[in-house]
Amino acid sequence: MKSVISALLLAAVSQAAPAPSSKTTTEIGSNPILFDGRIPPLFRSALLDNDTTSPYNAEYVLGLEPWSKVVHFPNVDHSLFDVPLGGKPIIVSINDKSIFQTQTGFRRSELLPDVNSGNDVTTNGVTAHHFSIRTDNTRPLNYSHEYQPVFIETQDYSSHVWQLKTGTPFGESWTEEAATTLRIYSSSTSSDALEIFNVPFTTDDWHNFALEEDWTNNLLTLYYSTGQSPLAVVAGPMANDNSGKGQFHVGMLKLPTGPNGIDVTKEGYQEKRPNEGLTYGGVFIEDTSSGSVTLEPAV
Ligand SMILES: *[C@@H]1O[C@H](CO)[C@@H](O)[C@H](O)[C@H]1NC(C)=O
Ligand SMILES: *[C@@H]1O[C@H](CO)[C@@H](O)[C@H](O)[C@H]1NC(C)=O
Repeated sequence: MKSVISALLLAAVSQAAPAPSSKTTTEIGSNPILFDGRIPPLFRSALLDNDTTSPYNAEYVLGLEPWSKVVHFPNVDHSLFDVPLGGKPIIVSINDKSIFQTQTGFRRSELLPDVNSGNDVTTNGVTAHHFSIRTDNTRPLNYSHEYQPVFIETQDYSSHVWQLKTGTPFGESWTEEAATTLRIYSSSTSSDALEIFNVPFTTDDWHNFALEEDWTNNLLTLYYSTGQSPLAVVAGPMANDNSGKGQFHVGMLKLPTGPNGIDVTKEGYQEKRPNEGLTYGGVFIEDTSSGSVTLEPAV
């Protein structure tokens, strides 16, 4: 890791911080790293606007503004897996311009790994998708709405391998306490999604997740911790239809409110000028075919 840091410092001297490495074995743990989406300390948001310098897709899924306007770097503690890198937490936000193509019912800004086309190294074998998430207190959510902050959308865009949700499910009426939770749902490909985990979305805490997918045997295992605690299994391994493969989305997808039966992609109610965000850290995907998931970073 020292060599990465000094390479970054050298790069800063020559005024161009490199994008985080991907498709390489880094020192996060002992497993090969298929995608490293952690943000190095000297990374500038403008680097996300260009595919040659971003570890993420520069164009999708975005509204009318480029990534450099959508992300912010808050001054909060490093997340668990950002600690060895000194990696920066990154806020992904939505506003009134966050309308993707013709989807006027949604507000969305979602980072997609550049290596992840839908059927690739991140959706074959056995993998673990890692991310840490926390509130952005300067851009609070409206928990009367449904949010889908992180998920794998199947390659044919028809369903999900798994999903994280918060807020009130579309068309339902929940108490604020029930809605202010982080909830993981299983695959919706061949059966209805089941809630497999639910924890209060407490303010100012890092919530660390890893979802391990066995793409061959259709299994899912969920790992979770808060703060700097190592991950631990909280659900699974359980049967899960992973056959749709797909793309990993990390960011903000806000549904409208409105009556059941409307086309939520195009209809329903959204506030005129939302200014909402979520904070992310420690995003990476590892190859766990060796049989173990990295529960904490190597020192
Ligand atoms: C992206 O960066 C490359 C290399 O610096 C540059 O040649 C290209 O013009 C940039 N693309 C855009 C759309 O700015
Ligand atoms: C939160 O969402 C509800 C439902 O769309 C809306 O009625 C309310 O005005 C929103 N609150 C704020 C503070 O925007």
